[in-house]
Amino acid sequence: MNHSTIVFRRANADDAQKIVSFYNFVGGETTFLSFEKDEYPLNVDEQTASIQALDGNQNNIMLMAMDGDEIAGIATISSSHKIKARHEGELGIVVARKYQGQGIGSELIRRLIEWARGNGVTTRIRLDTRTDNTDAVSLYLKFGFTVEGCCKNSTLLNGKYYDLYIMGMML
Ligand SMILES: CC(C)(COP(=O)(O)OP(=O)(O)OC[C@H]1O[C@@H](n2cnc3c(N)ncnc32)[C@H](O)[C@@H]1OP(=O)(O)O)[C@@H](O)C(=O)NCCC(=O)NCCS
Repeated sequence: MNHSTIVFRRANADDAQKIVSFYNFVGGETTFLSFEKDEYPLNVDEQTASIQALDGNQNNIMLMAMDGDEIAGIATISSSHKIKARHEGELGIVVARKYQGQGIGSELIRRLIEWARGNGVTTRIRLDTRTDNTDAVSLYLKFGFTVEGCCKNSTLLNGKYYDLYIMGMML
C-alpha cells in the first residue's frame, strides 16, 4: 500500500469539469461501472449543481482522491431525503486503473464509513456490484459488508447476462 502522496478531500463546484471527464474516461476502462465510456449521465452544469447541493447536506458526500491536480478516484454516498429512507446511503466508488492496488479504494471507503457514522443520519450503507467483480466484493467484505441478495441478469454486456449482488452493512 502506497498512497502517501494522495490527498483526500471533498469535491467542490470548481472540480465539476474534471469530475465529468474522469467518469467519462473510467467508464471506458472497466465494464464494472453502470455506465460506459462517455456515458456518464451528468454534464458539467448538472455536475456543478449536484456538488453545490452537497453543501450542508448531512447524508450525501462526494469524496475525491487527488494526485496533485489529477483525480485518482472518487467515492460517493448518495441518500434520499425521504423520512423512511434517509438512513440508508448508497455507496459508489471508482479508482482509475493506473492508481488501483495502492490502497486508495480502501482509504476512500474507510473515510466514507467514518463520515457516515458521524453524520447523525446514516445508519446503513448499501451498494450493488457485479458478482464477478471479485476485487470489489472482497474489498466490501473486508469492511464488513455482507451479501444480502442477488439480482439475476441485471447487466447485459455483449450478449451476456451478469448478476448483481446487493451488499449492505449496518453502521
Ligand atoms: C474496486 C476498486 C474501487 C478498488 O480500488 P483500489 O484502489 O484498487 O483498492 P485497494 O488498492 O484498496 O485494494 C483493495 C483490495 O483489492 C486488491 N486489488 C484491487 N485492485 C488491484 C490491482 N489492480 N492490483 C493489485 N491488487 C488489487 C488489493 O490487493 C486489495 O486487497 P487487500 O485489501 O486484501 O490488500 C477499483 O478496483 C475500481 O475502481 N475498479 C473498477 C470500478 C469498480 O469495480 N467499482 C466498483 C463497482 S461496485
